[in-house]
Amino acid sequence: MPIRTVIIPAAGRGTRLMPATKVTAKELLPVFDRVAIDFAVEEAIGAGAERVVVVISTSKTAIRSYLGHVALAVSGDGPRIGRQHEGVEIVYVYQDRMLGLGHAILCCRDTVLPGAIGVILPDDIIMGPNALAEMAARYRRGHMVAGMPVSAEDAAQYGIFRVSGLPVDNCIPVSGMVEKPAPGTAPSSIAAVGRYILDPMIFDVLAHTPPGKGGEVQLTDAISIAGLAVPLTAFRFSGSRYDCGNHDGLLAAAIARQAEVHRHRATQS
Ligand code: UTP
Repeated sequence: MPIRTVIIPAAGRGTRLMPATKVTAKELLPVFDRVAIDFAVEEAIGAGAERVVVVISTSKTAIRSYLGHVALAVSGDGPRIGRQHEGVEIVYVYQDRMLGLGHAILCCRDTVLPGAIGVILPDDIIMGPNALAEMAARYRRGHMVAGMPVSAEDAAQYGIFRVSGLPVDNCIPVSGMVEKPAPGTAPSSIAAVGRYILDPMIFDVLAHTPPGKGGEVQLTDAISIAGLAVPLTAFRFSGSRYDCGNHDGLLAAAIARQAEVHRHRATQS
């Protein structure tokens, strides 16, 4: 199913990456030879987006300046080949108050094209096969969220899916998610990560979702509520995910990217 619109929420404060994020958007920090947000934009374009909606705030307008100036490369063609993408529109939406990821998505309501909507969290970098394209190839209806297996010790750091059926082609039927379950209480070993394909009905649900954890409107709360009306699917993507919202993950992503670039150079020489 074509995903015509992809939303990239990038208005968050980035407190885990202080002090750099006092003055620099975390989405503009380097991942070896690239800038973090390049990965999200390329993934969106590679998944077939016609319109990419980037959510920023007035203190993160440098993202707009940056994306206005770069020639984007397609990941599959190797690093930095600089092929231009014509016909893909980049639209900016300003989130004036940081009321959470769910609120950031709700702010995009009037800018999306008809049909299901992709969401890429730019600090969750997935290297390898294009995760959103893999999801789009399997998406049929309802809401789909990327999932990856985690150890029992790590489960408390993630939203963990409540599995409700048997997997088919990497698609796992789920009935919702439990946010950061206490040790020993995780309902499965599959954690949600930052890729979504959402039915546009999510906007109505978000408009009525009360603030949850941290006083923020949580996208995962809205998806769990919506799951009472439409199917929810966790999708086991095949790439490797790096949480670039913290220092360890950002460094790990840079090292992985360095290895990819060096491999690419070796095949060219
Ligand atoms: P995070 O919680 O990972 O980002 O939100 P954050 O708030 O920037 O991080 P910390 O915890 O302060 O370090 C997930 C995604 O949602 C976006 C963020 O930019 C990130 O891509 N987001 C979050 C918004 O766009 N608006 C918000 O109000 C909150």
